Amino acid sequence: MNDIRKPKSFGSASSAATSTSMTPKQIRLINQSFALMSPKADAIPRIFYNRLFQLEPALRKMFPESLEEQGRKLMQMIGTAIGLLGRADQLIPALEALGRRHAGYGVRDEHYETVGTALLWTVEQELGPAFTPDVREAWTQLYLIVATTMREAATPQLAASAEDFVCR
Ligand code: HEM
Repeated sequence: MNDIRKPKSFGSASSAATSTSMTPKQIRLINQSFALMSPKADAIPRIFYNRLFQLEPALRKMFPESLEEQGRKLMQMIGTAIGLLGRADQLIPALEALGRRHAGYGVRDEHYETVGTALLWTVEQELGPAFTPDVREAWTQLYLIVATTMREAATPQLAASAEDFVCR
């Protein structure tokens, strides 16, 4: 369970075939599993950052020394994204602005894959048996939507499909 080896790949965040929509069932699974994790919301960022810096120690220097405030913002942003899943018109501009700020933090394209791997691993640890294949797929899809929208805004020449984002 606590395998710390670097997984080969989080997924294909750069795949052109990536779907940018989530089904109502996936949205429901995300909401349910986020609610299951909320009692431990304070501990989750620490688990996430430990895993992230285990996977890619060089990323540590990008972040401030204290990760407490940072972790709070991250959880808040994930919660915001989940809350706005059915409202792409509000979610997309918020993620685009976040993506542009991230370019300013020195975040590059490839970092998104490592962060996605650490995030999925953290959700898996927290949910245990509730992390079913369907739940994994829903979180993978959520992260792909968030990361793709952020990356495209940070790299204008990639921008093409953010407008295609739909919640069915
Ligand atoms: C894709 C999902 C991500 C989300 C939802 C997210 C969320 C956030 C939020 C909410 C902040 C607070 C500052 C702000 O709003 O601009 C932040 C800051 C930051 N994030 Fe992310 N982030 C993501 C991906 C990444 C990636 C891939 C990296 C690369 C390692 C990264 C590195 C940072 C850094 C360095 C800061 C600024 C720390 C500081 O100087 O205070 N983030 N992130």
